[in-house]
Amino acid sequence: MDARDVFDLEEMPRLPADPKRYGIGIVGAGGIVESAHLPAYRKAGFRVEAIYDLVPEKARRLADQFGIPRACARLDELLDRPEVNIADIAVPARAQPEVALRAIAAGKHLLCQKPFAETYPEALRIVNAADAAKLRVAVNQNMRFSPLISAARTLVERGWLGQLVSAEIQVNVKTPWDLWGWILSLDRLEIMYHSIHYLDALRMLLGDPDSVYCLGQHYPGQKARGETRTTTLLEYPDERWGLVRAEHNNLNDERDWSCSFRLEGTSGTAKGTFGALFDYPVGRPDTICYRAAPITGDAWIEPALEGRWFPDGFVGTMASLMRAIDEGRVPPHSGRDNLKTLALVFAAYRSMAEHRPVRLAEIVAPGS
Ligand SMILES: NC(=O)c1ccc[n+]([C@@H]2O[C@H](COP(=O)([O-])OP(=O)(O)OC[C@H]3O[C@@H](n4cnc5c(N)ncnc54)[C@H](O)[C@@H]3O)[C@@H](O)[C@H]2O)c1
Repeated sequence: MDARDVFDLEEMPRLPADPKRYGIGIVGAGGIVESAHLPAYRKAGFRVEAIYDLVPEKARRLADQFGIPRACARLDELLDRPEVNIADIAVPARAQPEVALRAIAAGKHLLCQKPFAETYPEALRIVNAADAAKLRVAVNQNMRFSPLISAARTLVERGWLGQLVSAEIQVNVKTPWDLWGWILSLDRLEIMYHSIHYLDALRMLLGDPDSVYCLGQHYPGQKARGETRTTTLLEYPDERWGLVRAEHNNLNDERDWSCSFRLEGTSGTAKGTFGALFDYPVGRPDTICYRAAPITGDAWIEPALEGRWFPDGFVGTMASLMRAIDEGRVPPHSGRDNLKTLALVFAAYRSMAEHRPVRLAEIVAPGS
């Protein structure tokens, strides 16, 4: 096989057989629903039946803009509708568990936003409630479905990079946190709301680390209360490592920004850039370049990647949930899988506070 063709073989993201089979009810009509969820669903041909927001005019405005049949005045009005099969929740994490549990009680499958919850027990409660009701719950960790990370996963699954030894994501940008007024007062910011995507993507590629060491810092004079600069090191038992370095206070314009990814194996390297943070939420295309010695020899291959993280990653999370419901299986980005991403996040915060490596087992142990 020609290595250049590898990504043409993948339909990324893979749509369900009938994209209109499930009716979607959206809870939350904020920035991300307008700029990513709804454009993604329009592109994929999904059927959005209803939308609700605490602020009714926000729901009405998006219903008009995207041709959604119903803007609901109350959450129950949306959850009572039989044509809504999947509740697509996009509210701040603090409000998500209550909405999720009510949606489960109403018999809806769930796509929750990240972070899944602000505490581990709340996330566990959602997962257990969904299991008991035989409903699927997935989490919108859409970087997994971004063109760059999907391509890297394809290389890993084909074994072309050999045995993996390290993975890193490094970001140096200026993030306009003011876009999310509610975020400025949170004690936990960067890892909880941003690097959680990178940690989830590295987990998907490398697996679960044993322990995490994390530095979380502020920038002089920053408006946000939580940390905006983090360095997180993941340690694996067999000498693999992962690194996430995120700086959100770059003084310079986008010409100086960088969002890079690198994955090393014993027979190859994949490296690339992701574009979602440039001119947010418009973004730029992702890039990838790889050398897999057994397949490409000394040549580096740079295939063109189709789509962008925003909005195509959002097609990916919903499409993958729909396919899992169709096939009666657990989706790869399930709530239960996400408990491990959350464990990483909470381990990182404990590490930050206690200035020591924290084992994941400390977080998931009963009573922790
Ligand atoms: N997956 C991603 O890539 C991604 C990107 C951006 C934001 N997000 C997540 O999406 C969520 C929303 O982010 P946003 O940028 O749209 O924020 P936003 O502030 O623009 O919108 C949040 C909306 O939720 C509404 N809301 C709050 N509580 C509610 C409740 N109980 N019921 C109904 N509506 C409620 C608010 O009125 C507001 O309209 C956050 O959790 C954020 O972390 C995810």
